[in-house]
Amino acid sequence: MTGEGNKKKENQKKVILTGDRPTGRLHVGHYVGSLKRRVELQNSGEYDEIYIMIADAQALTDNADQPEKVRQNILEVALDYMACGLDPAKSNLFIQSQIPELTELTFYYMNLVTVSRLQRNPTVKAEIQMRNFEASIPVGFFTYPISQAADITAFDATTVPVGEDQMPMLEQTKEIVHKFNSVYGEALVEPEILLPKNQACMRLPGTDGKAKMSKSLGNCIYLSEESDEIRKKVMSMFTDPTHIKITDPGKLEGNTVFTYLDAFSKPEHFEAFLPEYANLEELKAHYQRGGLGDVKVKRFLNEVLQAELEPIRVRRQELMKDVPYIYEVLKAGSEKAESVAAATLARVKKAMKINYFEDENLLKS
Ligand code: TRP
Repeated sequence: MTGEGNKKKENQKKVILTGDRPTGRLHVGHYVGSLKRRVELQNSGEYDEIYIMIADAQALTDNADQPEKVRQNILEVALDYMACGLDPAKSNLFIQSQIPELTELTFYYMNLVTVSRLQRNPTVKAEIQMRNFEASIPVGFFTYPISQAADITAFDATTVPVGEDQMPMLEQTKEIVHKFNSVYGEALVEPEILLPKNQACMRLPGTDGKAKMSKSLGNCIYLSEESDEIRKKVMSMFTDPTHIKITDPGKLEGNTVFTYLDAFSKPEHFEAFLPEYANLEELKAHYQRGGLGDVKVKRFLNEVLQAELEPIRVRRQELMKDVPYIYEVLKAGSEKAESVAAATLARVKKAMKINYFEDENLLKS
């Protein structure tokens, strides 16, 4: 067994799996937190297979009474993906619920996880509080980390590019993989998380400075946002409330405009829109010294965001002209994904000794 396991590792394929819940259009937080990186990874040519999943079944775990919302946002998310540069010729885009093998894997993995372990999952804990689920947590929602382990392992994913909030899910997945492999023999591949490169990208705040971006707070900038809206949102962004006069020294900590610049600005943006500063460090130093007004910094951020988001918005509008094509991509992607997940499920069932009718020795005995 061990020999087989090692052999598998040597010529192990490099496989990416990641995804998003279709509960709304994607925003700039998704973009810097994961989307942009996925496109870079896709275009690096270093991966043998890439699976990008629209997690509708997971979205339903806390939106059971809103099937129409989930259904409509599948298209929105697919448009956002492709507008950002995910290319169906290189990345397999698919819909979670269309792969029944994932549910079956989840059912078997449930035997390897305890209730108290799920209760300790920090992301689940925070979400339960946020949704006021304390007294009545849907079982499906409570167990979604297990289904996420199924999503990842079904494709033998080695790399999972996600935001920091998904760290507990990856940990849970690794535990399930270890447990499975030690009880039933090496059948599952252990994944690694791939986090965003800088702190600002890891946790981009809302435009009001609040940690969580949400539709109801109106503090997100969407990838599909019109240019005017972007400008309005940037100009009303939260900065340093003690920076009142231009001559006052300004603070960078908790200053949303600078956090966004950390996440988005590149040296070429300075050349194009703010040539009197060589780079972000110089701009920050001037702000801290005093003598640099918020409006000037916001105008610069607006230029940066407009430059980054315009091509995405234009491509999205183009893609929207042919919705049937988007669904064709998702259908073909789901069919491919199902065939891969079916092979994993067969391996899992064999390891668990529940492959009765495929086992010649059993049938003959
Ligand atoms: N939980 C992820 C989110 O909320 C979506 C997701 C579901 C996912 N299954 C996954 C991400 C597997 C990475 C790997 O966005």
